[in-house]
Amino acid sequence: MAEDRSYSPSREFVEHANVKGMEGYRALYKRALEQPAEFWGELADKELFWFEKWSKAFEWNPPFVKWFVGGKTNVSYNCIDRHLATHRKNKVAILWEGEPGDQRMITYQELYRLVARFANVLKSRGLKIGDRAVIYMPMIPELPVAMLACARLGIIHSVVFGGFSAEALKARIQDLEAQVVITADGGWRRGKEVKLKPAVDEALPECPTVRDVIVYRRTGSPLEMKAGRDLWWHELDETAAETCDAVPLDSEAPLYVLYTSGTTGKPKGIVHTTGGYLLQATMTMKWVFDLHDEDTYWCTADIGWVTGHSYIVYGPLSAGATTVMYEGAPDCPQPDRFWRLIEKYRVNILYTSPTAIRSFVRQGDQWPNAHDLSSLRLLGSVGEPINPAAWEWYHKTIGKERCPIVDTWWQTETGAIMISPIPGAVPAKPGSATLPLPGILPEVVDLNGKPVEPNCEGLLVIQRPWPSMLRTIWRDPQRYEDQYWRRIPGNYLTGDAARRDADGYLWVLGRVDDVMNISGHRLSTMELESALVRHPAVAEAAVVGKPHEITGQAMVCFVTLKEGKWDTEQLAQDLRLWVAHEIGSFAKPEQIRFSEALPKTRSGKIMRRLLREIVTSNTVVGDVTTLEDLSVVTRLSAQTDDE
Ligand code: WTA
Repeated sequence: MAEDRSYSPSREFVEHANVKGMEGYRALYKRALEQPAEFWGELADKELFWFEKWSKAFEWNPPFVKWFVGGKTNVSYNCIDRHLATHRKNKVAILWEGEPGDQRMITYQELYRLVARFANVLKSRGLKIGDRAVIYMPMIPELPVAMLACARLGIIHSVVFGGFSAEALKARIQDLEAQVVITADGGWRRGKEVKLKPAVDEALPECPTVRDVIVYRRTGSPLEMKAGRDLWWHELDETAAETCDAVPLDSEAPLYVLYTSGTTGKPKGIVHTTGGYLLQATMTMKWVFDLHDEDTYWCTADIGWVTGHSYIVYGPLSAGATTVMYEGAPDCPQPDRFWRLIEKYRVNILYTSPTAIRSFVRQGDQWPNAHDLSSLRLLGSVGEPINPAAWEWYHKTIGKERCPIVDTWWQTETGAIMISPIPGAVPAKPGSATLPLPGILPEVVDLNGKPVEPNCEGLLVIQRPWPSMLRTIWRDPQRYEDQYWRRIPGNYLTGDAARRDADGYLWVLGRVDDVMNISGHRLSTMELESALVRHPAVAEAAVVGKPHEITGQAMVCFVTLKEGKWDTEQLAQDLRLWVAHEIGSFAKPEQIRFSEALPKTRSGKIMRRLLREIVTSNTVVGDVTTLEDLSVVTRLSAQTDDE
């Protein structure tokens, strides 16, 4: 069986690893299990700088937790200032390449200057602790600079992925009641400018809390600046002072809010705080990525998602790494851009997604084979389950059977990696995220919370609080409690199904709720359905995910139309654009299927399970006795593609 294959790190890798061998892993895990307060407390003292020491490692009042109670620290200080008195002062912190090929190498000292100046700009605009900044930017160094400047002053930031539309941006600004929006004219993707400022202009008339819009000039294309509201970054920055002290903040001060899809139409504002978040982001850099000072480390995610927050910005900078940032598409100008970058900058650690890996497989081995990838020593994967075939390809073609692969399972809510091999310690099995990291207690349970037998499928839950866990949902503690803690009392419900094999290895199987995972991007079926029914032609909509060779899942929309004569071919096209307009360019339906009615239970609930079966197999095998209109199912099953 494929899953019996296991890959151990080479002796050479283990020799230099931060955690060596299974004994090393077991010792850490045991200590964290038996003495969590001491374990995390010692790490907090050793790994982070504190302005004032905390008094208690954690305080657990389920479902609310506090870490390093009473401690005062600052994330921006930990990511920058504390390195300046060390050999890292002139080390490259951010190694950036724009899509057109422009480069910037920003040392820790220079990062300090950029962040201090921009923090002074924010201060001069009257922003203070607890205010909110929405950041809507391309992948340029000013994005982490803006985040770190906010963190320096205790301003809570919320980065909105540049692929989100004006509608999605508006909803987030409104929910957060942000005072400032930090944006750019646009960025480069696949040779074209992706404009950002026009979306801000479209969103803002309904966002009364926003006083200022700060615009960074990246592409230089003409745009309208609204007097009294819009300000140029470079003009404000010109007169800003070069130093700015980091504000000592409570360990539990919110650092950021990041919106993610849940099971309702409304995105959830996941709240992460300061001390605990930073500690776990830092520790996972050392454990999972086996970070050494001389490494060049590249995470290919977009900072608009949690992976970019924890593993391009906060984790790597706190750990003193050189973190690579690339602005554009992997296939621009040719499908070998990633391999070109790795060769050029001698990247040692590469962290990317199964979707990217599968699309590289499709493009052919000639692209990576044309480059010298010998600098690589460790590979990572995140965002979705990686199928063993893609894993094997990654291992052979990119890692040349020399680099361990870390398949890292975690979520926006968990803040940091939770389940992953520690590469010098835990042998990998392709397709399994393997074992939990120190301090993490996962369990696979049935609907009553009872652990299931080995190899049986169940719900993946986490049994103890961990430092980087979400603290709440922004201004909705009730939803936080209901969503994550009510179903299996005392346990954090991940929303994923999993299985544990006889060796204790965890195999994450995918979501069990109405959340889709397309190219590693989380999308809520409810959110998409509400977007569709806002279209004037649509009466009802049901959205389901369908397995897809490259993107893991693809979006299929079942739609019933209002009375009238419709050109369905044209309408299918319009609805695709409509969804992109309502949510964002990354959320394009693969299929729009029209039908006269949708299958519903007697109580009127759309039976998505049935629709999933239809799109997966084109037959219905499940129980249909609760259906209102059976003929609907038959008709839908008979169709293949109604476009
Ligand atoms: C899925 C991304 C299998 C999972 C960091 C989870 C994975 C959701 C893996 C979170 C993995 C992430 N193996 N599934 N290694 N990593 N997932 O919030 O379904 O964007 O619940 O965080 O992605 O997605 P999110």
